Amino acid sequence: MSRPETADSVAALRARIRDWRRDGLRVAMVPTMGALHEGHLSLIRIARERAERCVVSIFVNPTQFAPSEDLDKYPRQLARDLDMLATVGADVAFTPTVGEMYPAGFATKISVGGPSAGLESDFRPTFFEGVGTVVAKLFLQATPDCAVFGEKDYQQLCVVRQLCRDLDLPVEIVGAPTIRDTHGLAMSSRNAYLDETELQTARQLNVILRKAATALAGGAGQKHATDEASRSLSAAGFQKVDYVEARESLTLAPWRHDRAGRVLAAAWLGKTRLIDNVEVPAA
Ligand code: PAF
Repeated sequence: MSRPETADSVAALRARIRDWRRDGLRVAMVPTMGALHEGHLSLIRIARERAERCVVSIFVNPTQFAPSEDLDKYPRQLARDLDMLATVGADVAFTPTVGEMYPAGFATKISVGGPSAGLESDFRPTFFEGVGTVVAKLFLQATPDCAVFGEKDYQQLCVVRQLCRDLDLPVEIVGAPTIRDTHGLAMSSRNAYLDETELQTARQLNVILRKAATALAGGAGQKHATDEASRSLSAAGFQKVDYVEARESLTLAPWRHDRAGRVLAAAWLGKTRLIDNVEVPAA
């Protein structure tokens, strides 16, 4: 397969999508910030099963980074990303500049409530405003029939669902399972920051979360199970644990034993912040 066509302006993207619509084709979108890995490719494969055409956006969105965060060092590798897209057959890579997405005078923010409360927002208070704003723009620019998001960023997936519901955006949101390495480490563009020792420690994250989820499903108290997971992360070598919490899968409200649940966590290894989540197996 060949590299996808690139569109770096909203006008070029809309022109291509107009052609597809004229031919009656269904369009799927996979929003990304580039630095693609197997996790992204799995989203694109799912998108391709659901639509005749697939747009992948590659845009490191500055509005979702706080000033103290890694916007400048976030990996940017467009040529490699386009080569990877060729292996899965994406049709268009939408690669806007910051100026195209946020022209001078841009002054709108989309703040999604509900599932954005707590968890990531306690530590990254402006993150979901940035995500909500850019995802709403991408959907209005590309007008996809469906869009695929990874469960790895579980709270983000819930926030995007809420955004579409609340704003009547006619985009079906498809959640896709987290892709992990053979040790269970969730694929993430930020794994590239980890040295070999940190990588070994990072692999404990999902092991510890699965243990907590099993304990919860077996009737363990919530505070006991999440505190224990937090202690285990510190003992494994994570220098700081931002949170380990159990939430309801659909709403992200505090979890109750009779509801489908998820255990979500964020923790730091050196300067790298990792997040992951696992399902609480049915009791
Ligand atoms: O998950 C990501 O890569 C980003 O948050 C997204 C959804 C592409 C918005 O910038």
